[in-house]
Amino acid sequence: MFPKNIKFFCDNYVLESDDLLEFAQQEFDTIMCLSTTKWIHLNFGDDGLKRAFKRMHAQLRPGGTLILEPQGLSSYARKVRRLTPKIQKNYREMKFKPDQFSDYLVNEVGFSEGKIVAVPEHASAGFRRPIHVSIKYFHHKATLKFFFLCFSYLRNRPWWKQKNPPPSWKASNG
Ligand SMILES: C[S@@+](CC[C@H](N)C(=O)[O-])C[C@H]1O[C@@H](n2cnc3c(N)ncnc32)[C@H](O)[C@@H]1O
Repeated sequence: MFPKNIKFFCDNYVLESDDLLEFAQQEFDTIMCLSTTKWIHLNFGDDGLKRAFKRMHAQLRPGGTLILEPQGLSSYARKVRRLTPKIQKNYREMKFKPDQFSDYLVNEVGFSEGKIVAVPEHASAGFRRPIHVSIKYFHHKATLKFFFLCFSYLRNRPWWKQKNPPPSWKASNG
């Protein structure tokens, strides 16, 4: 029961490789990732952030919610000059920009279209960042596509119009 059901871990959320994603358990109803994407991005590059997004999806139960507050690209540049050479390299080589995160989450990871639910009020403009909410679909997109194709096929070619109707049809019609 709350608050005894809360645990805190200090850990790196970015797995060592994509291969480890298959061991992720569907264990959360909600994942909040607030003001964190920039740090993952700068430290682990495009691949690291993409892997973190995939891990969020893998750890959510079907129907679960991702609450994401990504930092904008302009805030990266302000920090990067004072950080390590590795981070500067990641920044220079960055191709995956914050305005592409939504598309990636929908088209590559499998989340629903993100909805902006709020832009918090804050004295500093840098902290007025939109909060996106996405849902993990109950079914994998490919599964949905398969059922949709079957449904379209059956709708266009109903069994009573087919050349070889099923045996039960033949039997009941002499
Ligand atoms: C700007 S703070 C935001 C803290 C809090 N989420 C909030 O909104 O107030 C960024 C947080 O990202 C965490 N962070 C950065 N890289 C991380 C990583 N690879 N794995 C886990 N946490 C990370 C840092 O420890 C830090 O707490």
